[in-house]
Amino acid sequence: MLQDGPVSTHTDPRRAFTDARRDPLLAVLEGLHALKHALRFGADVLRVAITEPDAVAELIEGYAPDLPGLLRREPEVVSPEVFRALSPNAPTTGVITIARRPPVDIAALLDDPRAAPLVLLEAPRDLGNVGACVRVSAAADIAGVLTTGTHDPWNPTALRGSAGLHFALPVAHVAAVEPAGGRPLIALDGEGETLDPRELPARSILAFGSERQGLSNELLARADARVSLPMRAGVSSLNLATSVAAVLYAWRFSENQ
Ligand SMILES: C[S@@+](CC[C@H](N)C(=O)[O-])C[C@H]1O[C@@H](n2cnc3c(N)ncnc32)[C@H](O)[C@@H]1O
Repeated sequence: MLQDGPVSTHTDPRRAFTDARRDPLLAVLEGLHALKHALRFGADVLRVAITEPDAVAELIEGYAPDLPGLLRREPEVVSPEVFRALSPNAPTTGVITIARRPPVDIAALLDDPRAAPLVLLEAPRDLGNVGACVRVSAAADIAGVLTTGTHDPWNPTALRGSAGLHFALPVAHVAAVEPAGGRPLIALDGEGETLDPRELPARSILAFGSERQGLSNELLARADARVSLPMRAGVSSLNLATSVAAVLYAWRFSENQ
C-alpha cells in the first residue's frame, strides 16, 4: 500500500503518525471512508495502518469495493494497543492513513474560469464544521474552499468531518482573501437581502462567517452583496455547514449553474 516516494522516516508507526499530525505537508486520515475518498481523488498515500484485518476486509467489501484496486501495497497491521496510540480518537473502522497534502495554487484557483463559486470560511471555530463544509463543497462540485483564522483546514478532525473529500477540490488556509480574478464577493449573512440563487453572479466568492461572531465588519463592508437564507421568526441563525449546504445546493439547482 505504501506508494513510491519518501515515506515518514520512522519505522515506529506511533512516531510516524505523531510527526505527521504536525507536518503541514502531510494529512492524517482517520477512518476507512477518508482513505477511500482520498484514493478516489488521487491522494498520494504514504502509509496505512490497520488493526483487525478481517474486520477491515469486511468493511472494504461492503463500503469501499474499489479500494483494493487503488492501493499499491498491503497495509501494515498493528496491534490494537498501537492502533489506539495513533490518534487521540482512534477510528472505529480500524484504518488510519498518512497521505501527502496536494499543493494548492491560490492564484490559479482565484483565476479558475469556471462559473462555479468558491467558498470562503472566515475564521471558523469548529473543525467538524470545516470538514462538513468541505464535504458538501466537494459534492456540489464547486471551485474550492478557503479558510482564514487560526485553524488549519487540513487538521485531522476536519479531514474526518469531510470523510477525506479534501482531496476532491482545492482546500487551503489564507491570511486574507483579496477579491481577485474578477470574482464578486458575496457575504452570507442573516441580515442580508433574501437570496435568489439565480442572481448569484458566476465565479462568486461566497463568504460565510464564524459560528459565534458571523462575518467581520471588514468583510461585510467589502462585499459586493449581502444575502440571507430566510428563516422562521425566532430562529437566530443556521449552523455554518448547514448554511453552506443550503446555498451551494440552491446554486446547483438554479438555472445559473
Ligand atoms: C452560526 S452562523 C453565525 C451567527 C452569528 N451569531 C451571526 O450573527 O452572524 C455562521 C454563519 O453561517 C451563515 N448563516 C447562518 N444562518 C444564515 C442565514 N439565515 N442566512 C445566511 N447566512 C447564514 C453566515 O455566514 C454566518 O456568519
